[in-house]
Amino acid sequence: MTNPTKLATNASIEVVDHPLVQHKLTLIRNRETGTTLFRTVLREISLLLAYEVCRDLKTENIEIDTPLESTSSPKLEGENLCLISILRAGNGLLDGMLDLMPSARVGHIGLYREPETLVPVEYYIKLPDRLEERLCIVVDPMLATGGSAIAAVHQVKQAGAKRIKFVCVVAAPEGLAAFAKAHPDVPVITAAIDRELDDHSYIRPGLGDAGDRMFGTK
Ligand code: PRP
Ligand code: URA
Repeated sequence: MTNPTKLATNASIEVVDHPLVQHKLTLIRNRETGTTLFRTVLREISLLLAYEVCRDLKTENIEIDTPLESTSSPKLEGENLCLISILRAGNGLLDGMLDLMPSARVGHIGLYREPETLVPVEYYIKLPDRLEERLCIVVDPMLATGGSAIAAVHQVKQAGAKRIKFVCVVAAPEGLAAFAKAHPDVPVITAAIDRELDDHSYIRPGLGDAGDRMFGTK
């Protein structure tokens, strides 16, 4: 079950409050969880979030024969999907999602938050072509100030995308508000909306620095 919440005109956010997701989120929030388990569980969360993201994919009925009789049964219409990972931490969601959407194209946008100004700095971008024909799913575990997500989605729109969703694991209310203002047409799917940003714009209670915890860089 999800709780769709209206944030601004035409903006929507879905909190995936399924017990499995919330249990796994508790595991990765825990500071005692090391890199290996963190990666494994983040990947499992990505599968469960992908399930929600794909909920409104279109299907068409086709005729098939079961071992017992002929029947009409739904099949995905073959929508062109594109997953776009915000590096680095977005890659923690990418592989699990690709398991469920194996034919999806994949784009990467490299961004880091400049530690003093918190302004996202772009260092890499590679996107598939014909984005205007695809449902683009931008992924990053963390939405803090929203700066990185806003910048990434801006680039995806510049490249022609018309239908975009943003998937994260933990979001701050401040970042969600900023994102909804910048991109009211882009739904957000998240596992949690946390309390607030702290003085360093880390999400509280949060899970720390997702990239560092995934890659063991701190
Ligand atoms: C983290 C996270 C988001 C961003 C969120 O990345 O993965 O991309 O911060 O913060 P924001 O909403 O305030 O922009 P970071 O910049 O630490 O880079 P990394 O993934 O390479 O560690
Ligand atoms: N980026 C993270 O990885 N964690 C936060 O809490 C904020 C930004």
